[in-house]
Amino acid sequence: MPNVTFHTNGQIKTVEAPEGRNLLQIALDSGIPMEHACGGNGFCTTCMCTVKKGMENLSPRNDREENMGVTDDPARLSCQAEVKGDVEIEVIEY
Ligand code: FES
Repeated sequence: MPNVTFHTNGQIKTVEAPEGRNLLQIALDSGIPMEHACGGNGFCTTCMCTVKKGMENLSPRNDREENMGVTDDPARLSCQAEVKGDVEIEVIEY
């Protein structure tokens, strides 16, 4: 299973996650706080993260990310980015 490393609030946590889960689901399953005002539907940007490593191991950017203006690396919407391999992200805090 892929390893997903979260940098949040000055702490680093790595978890194993099944392929195909998105970063928001993995964070919440792992007890890592991540904002998700629209419920993970790609209609806000509160789950936006910065990908530090492994952008190539995430699903391609989709229309919802493009529509929300999340078009440039290293930013991704966590609820739209599905994991296919090892990834390291920084959670944006509010
Ligand atoms: S939770 Fe709203 S865009 Fe991801």
